This record gives sequence, C-alpha cells and structure tokens, in this order.
Amino acid sequence: MDRRPSFSSLDIISKIIREQVKEGDICIDATAGRGNDTAMLAELVGESGRVISFDIQEEAIESTRALLCEKNLSSRVDLHLESHSEMGHYAEKETISCITFNFGWLPKGDHNIFTKKETSIPAIEAGLELLKDGGIMTLILYYGRETGFEEKDALLDYLPTIDSKKYTVVEMPFVNRSNCPPIPVVILKGR
Ligand SMILES: C[S@@+](CC[C@H](N)C(=O)[O-])C[C@H]1O[C@@H](n2cnc3c(N)ncnc32)[C@H](O)[C@@H]1O
Repeated sequence: MDRRPSFSSLDIISKIIREQVKEGDICIDATAGRGNDTAMLAELVGESGRVISFDIQEEAIESTRALLCEKNLSSRVDLHLESHSEMGHYAEKETISCITFNFGWLPKGDHNIFTKKETSIPAIEAGLELLKDGGIMTLILYYGRETGFEEKDALLDYLPTIDSKKYTVVEMPFVNRSNCPPIPVVILKGR
C-alpha cells in the first residue's frame, strides 16, 4: 500500500508559485538541480518572460538543459554554472516576480555536494533586493541525513532578522510528520 503523505513541501510551494507567476514575468531558480522548477517557471512566464537559473554542478546544468530542450522551453531560460550567491550580478533590482530555492543535494546526484549556509544566506540577501514589490521568494529547507542541521538551523536563525517593514516571512513546518520533513518558507515583498 502507498503510505506517502498526500502533500509534500514541493507540492505546497508549487501551488504558491503557480498562483504568483504570470506571463511576461522574470523569475529566478536559485537551485536548478534536475530542472523541474526551472521548467515550471519557464512554462508560467510564457514566451514573453524570462527565467534565470543557477547551479554549481555541471551535471545539474546539463540535466536542466536537457529537460528544457525536451519541453521546448530553452529559449526562455538563461542557465548559469554559478553560485546563487552571485545572482545580484544577473538581474536588475526590484524586477523579479519569484525566486525559488530548493536546498539540499542534486536528486540522484552526489550527496556530498549540497547547499551551505555560507552561500545560502548571502544568496537570500541578494535575492530580496532583486524582488519587485509584490514579488515572492520561496525556500524549501532540507536537513538531516548527509546534509545535517547546520544550514537549516542557520536559516531559521536568520529568517526572523529580515526587515519586517519590507518583507513578510512565513514558515510552514509540518508538525505531525516524522523523519525531518523539509520546511517550506515563503517571503513576500511589500503589500
Ligand atoms: C534539491 S536540488 C534542486 C532541485 C531542483 N530544483 C529540481 O527541480 O530538480 C539542490 C541543488 O542546489 C545546488 N547547489 C548547491 N549549492 C549551490 C549554490 N551555492 N548555488 C547554486 N546551486 C547550488 C546543488 O548542486 C543541487 O543541484
């Protein structure tokens, strides 16, 4: 019998992103991985929009490139083999509708390479500047197993320090699930 819970962190964040992103928007996928989030964003922004995606692993960039090609979405996406902490160099301030971070390691990849607080926090800070009024940033925090707790703990310490006059930060931890369920977070700018 399939005992998987019906909603994952990814399901919740995807619903929020689908609600937010409109045709013509500019979006950032901070952790391209296998390209699923980049492809979703590319579909949502349409032909007149743009997606800027980052990953530090060649394997992730190539996987994302292949998925976009298969879905005929390549022309809407700029792929960068670069740390997300550098995203401030790739977009103008206050122009981005949605920035998504899916932390952790590359699915079916090397579990020893995963996101780290030393680059995750500067990347969030850079991303907040890029969001336009009404824009959102989504995060999925993974922890436990090879990843440990360092990044998650640092992020949960950092998030409450974000300026409440400019941003609203909402954490949505699962409270009745075991085995370190990933934590969805949404940051809204303005409004
Ligand atoms: C959980 S995966 C992302 C999954 C992806 N969203 C998808 O749809 O398949 C996390 C990714 O973050 C990448 N990563 C780790 N550190 C990074 C950094 N500093 N900048 C950008 N990407 C990074 C990893 O290489 C990995 O591919």
